[in-house]
Amino acid sequence: KEIVVSGIRPTGYLHLGNYFGAIRNYIRMQEEFDCYFFVADWHSLTTHPNPKDLQANVMRVLAENIASGLDPEKVTLYAQSHVPEIAELYLLMNMLAYKGELEKVPTFKDKVRLQPENVNAGLLTYPVLMSVDILIQRAVKVPVGKDQGQHLEMARNFAQRFNNRYGNLFPEPVAFNYGDNLVRILSLDGKGGKMSKSENEMSTLYLSDSDEQIRQKLKKAKTDSGSGVPGEPMPESVSNLIEIMKLVSTPDTVQFYTDAFNAGTIRYGDMKTQLGEDMVKFITPIREKAKGLQEDPTYLRKIMKEGAEKARANAAQTLQQARNLMGLNYFE
Ligand code: TYM
Repeated sequence: KEIVVSGIRPTGYLHLGNYFGAIRNYIRMQEEFDCYFFVADWHSLTTHPNPKDLQANVMRVLAENIASGLDPEKVTLYAQSHVPEIAELYLLMNMLAYKGELEKVPTFKDKVRLQPENVNAGLLTYPVLMSVDILIQRAVKVPVGKDQGQHLEMARNFAQRFNNRYGNLFPEPVAFNYGDNLVRILSLDGKGGKMSKSENEMSTLYLSDSDEQIRQKLKKAKTDSGSGVPGEPMPESVSNLIEIMKLVSTPDTVQFYTDAFNAGTIRYGDMKTQLGEDMVKFITPIREKAKGLQEDPTYLRKIMKEGAEKARANAAQTLQQARNLMGLNYFE
């Protein structure tokens, strides 16, 4: 079976963007591939989260993943920091990562703009750590949203660079989505930004939102004036809602509102009410299951402990080969 790796940072409540870009693929991939899915707790430290909050955040991401349909019997679920092999390979790989290329990464440049008071070395080398998360398991497919595409390109570069210098070890991983193109779910405010954990809460739909919050947020979601224009492409804010609708509503409903837009007769209020009801039906079981799971940390701890053992065993093999290839094998 091909190996798959993906991670989610424990920096907030999971939202529909995470679900579309990542989790939806995880659920299908677990049936076909050898999957390693982890909580990227080291990655979250770049913003100096309160140590008191970290554990609950990690547990919640784990719970929300399982509640969404991941089966711990089928996939390996773990916390990144429980696999110290990653840290060692990260050190080794940093010797092949250049300051110039790291400074050019768009996500780094964004951070420099957004948090100029905390431009730490961990932020600069973030793509190296992320590449190592993937390469150390020898993954070939990485289910992620569009915002991570550039990072995957870097992972391929690092893999190639290592292979060329020291000998063939790493497969070159590609970003993966069942729908082909990588997904980017937009914020509900219609301003064109991606839905994100730190966004304005009213424009982000969380898997933990109550029924009322879901209905309210969708009611307030930005659409368009008028009632559709025959022959014109949908404005982004509307096509984003249609995309979301494809996940939770019936194909007939999606067709109905698409046709209505094209006929110039769409009623956005009705569409959002319908979407709200369908979304409530979709999120409620996930939210309730995640809540139940978080009430039982022993179960989650057991899952993550077993996951770490498996992830470490696989990672240790890659790491040993990397050491050997680099000449760090003094006892042989
Ligand atoms: P993170 O925690 O920001 O997001 C987790 C996953 O959700 C996807 N995503 C989205 N997809 C579509 N539309 C959106 N609005 C949206 N928002 C988030 C992300 O693309 C991601 O797949 N660097 C990663 C975590 C990471 C990782 C890895 C991922 C660390 N190591 C190794 C894959 C492999 C991140 O910050 O994701």
